[in-house]
Amino acid sequence: MKPNPPSVPVDPSIPPPPAAGKRAPGAKAPLSKSGASSRRLRAEAVARELQVKLGARSYPLHIAPGLLSDPSQFASLRGRLLRVVTDANVAPLYLQKVLSAAGIAVEDALVLPAGETQKSWATLETVIDWLLATRLPRDGVVLALGGGVVGDLAGFAASIYQRGVDFVQLPTTLLAQVDSSVGGKTGVNHPRGKNLIGAFHQPQMVLADTDALKTLPPREFAAGLAEVIKCGLLGDAPLFIKLERELDRLLALDPSTLAEVIERCCRLKARIVAEDERESGPRALLNLGHTFAHAVETFTGYDQWLHGEAVGLGLCMAADLSAKLGWLPQADADRCRALVARCNLPVLPPAGMKPDDFLRLMAQDKKVAGGRLRLVLLRAIGESLVTADFDPAALDATLAQFCAHTTA
Ligand SMILES: NC(=O)c1ccc[n+]([C@@H]2O[C@H](COP(=O)([O-])OP(=O)(O)OC[C@H]3O[C@@H](n4cnc5c(N)ncnc54)[C@H](O)[C@@H]3O)[C@@H](O)[C@H]2O)c1
Ligand SMILES: [Zn+2]
Repeated sequence: MKPNPPSVPVDPSIPPPPAAGKRAPGAKAPLSKSGASSRRLRAEAVARELQVKLGARSYPLHIAPGLLSDPSQFASLRGRLLRVVTDANVAPLYLQKVLSAAGIAVEDALVLPAGETQKSWATLETVIDWLLATRLPRDGVVLALGGGVVGDLAGFAASIYQRGVDFVQLPTTLLAQVDSSVGGKTGVNHPRGKNLIGAFHQPQMVLADTDALKTLPPREFAAGLAEVIKCGLLGDAPLFIKLERELDRLLALDPSTLAEVIERCCRLKARIVAEDERESGPRALLNLGHTFAHAVETFTGYDQWLHGEAVGLGLCMAADLSAKLGWLPQADADRCRALVARCNLPVLPPAGMKPDDFLRLMAQDKKVAGGRLRLVLLRAIGESLVTADFDPAALDATLAQFCAHTTA
């Protein structure tokens, strides 16, 4: 499907694609031209770097292909004892690279089973026991190598081990590279709900190796794209337009498109987190689509839909509601739905889920304040707000429309 013409102006701040042989704006200068492989030079040409600015807790974020096997990326950790936590899918693909590049012995790595169920008290205890058994000192560093599950779990372990040790995020999923590795939210799930136990603990550094995305299953990649679309919708209209225009390049894992898109998401998140580290205000904007998504995840028991899949649908529903309220042009809500669909993400709720199910489950979401449901809604593509001040009849209309196929 062809996207509608954009209704928002293109931001002149979008960096133009670098000319052949030139570095992208903001890209790192090559460390050393002589002797560097052509592969390394290509990686440097697309490399991106930014800073999450949180005073004494500030940290750099590096985005480029090949980072996990590049010893210079780990130079700042030299002289400290390191431990790697990873999962059984990621370990055979990337663990050896990281061990070699960072100079870590194989016994200093813990490989956990993969999957959301590992974000638990029990596995947290396993990680803490292992850190104690391997005697990581207080000035040691935990490296979280994997997706959001490993990042959240290992980050939380680092936050409480000996009252807190440093940790580094080595995200290997798109979702982790654009979202979970940035911002310092760490934690585990409780049988009563997701992410109910945790801490804010900022990493020392994030190394997002875009080469790692080559092995990611397409369904996981698409789930990460939902969070990318979210970033465009909530605060970066040029990113949204770029996705409409260059989705195919992104799906083909074009290195410079990937690096730029990941950078834009991280910049947006870093800016919001710098304003509101502990989510007392604007950070809630990052939950665009998530109240609808959490209802779907709870309804389906967390084992059928990936989080990003539910977020994709949630974005469509938030955009549709914004249009029904007369805040967003309907054509822009349609663009949102078209883009989500082009990513192979679902745009309809699961079979059997009715408007009442949404209302009941959305009312349990933590964004209900003073008995009124607060939602993140859109005033334009790239402009969002958190509000409880909307006509509930419009929400009913959105739910009825989206659930029409499930109740028919
Ligand atoms: N802390 C935050 O701010 C934040 C934000 C968003 C999401 N999250 C959390 O992130 C988690 C979801 O993260 P996720 O989507 O990365 O899931 P995940 O960590 O479970 O990874 C998805 C799957 O991909 C595998 N995998 C990871 N990297 C791979 C690679 N390069 N190649 C092949 N397979 C690979 C994993 O083993 C797993 O099976 C959830 O627990 C969610 O709550 C946290
Ligand atoms: Zn999310």
